[in-house]
Amino acid sequence: MKVVVSFLNRVLVLGLVASLAACSSESAETLADAHPGQSTYNEACISCHNPGISGAPRLGDADAWQPRAAKGRQALVASTVNGLNAMPAKGMCWQCSDEQLAHAVDYMLEQAGVTATP
Ligand code: HEC
Repeated sequence: MKVVVSFLNRVLVLGLVASLAACSSESAETLADAHPGQSTYNEACISCHNPGISGAPRLGDADAWQPRAAKGRQALVASTVNGLNAMPAKGMCWQCSDEQLAHAVDYMLEQAGVTATP
């Protein structure tokens, strides 16, 4: 009985190690493939743009993003940096550089599958 238990323990430990290893190599790949604006989005923009707070265009919502994209990328980045109606300046990401904000805008456009003129 003791032998069986220690064998089971070993299988459990091996399984755990294997799944941890699989997990870490997967997240490394995800990081390498991640859009440069994704982390900024996840940290600063997701709280309003996932649920669509106060009419915020939602992530991946092509219908909401198409008319925005028509303004051109620069106008969208300017709205983000300066704020627009219910969206506070910098999307409340005070530590973000303009470049990081622009990457986050690009990420949102990409997720919606729309392209904006430069
Ligand atoms: C406090 C909520 C809030 C946060 C946080 C927020 N947004 Fe917004 N965002 C909004 C709202 C509301 C609108 C719609 C404003 C309007 O058109 O009246 C909007 C609109 C936009 C638009 C479209 C602007 C335009 O000119 O049509 C862009 C681009 C955008 N947000 C990017 C971002 C980015 C990038 C971040 C993160 C750095 C962010 N937002 C964070 C609420 C937010």
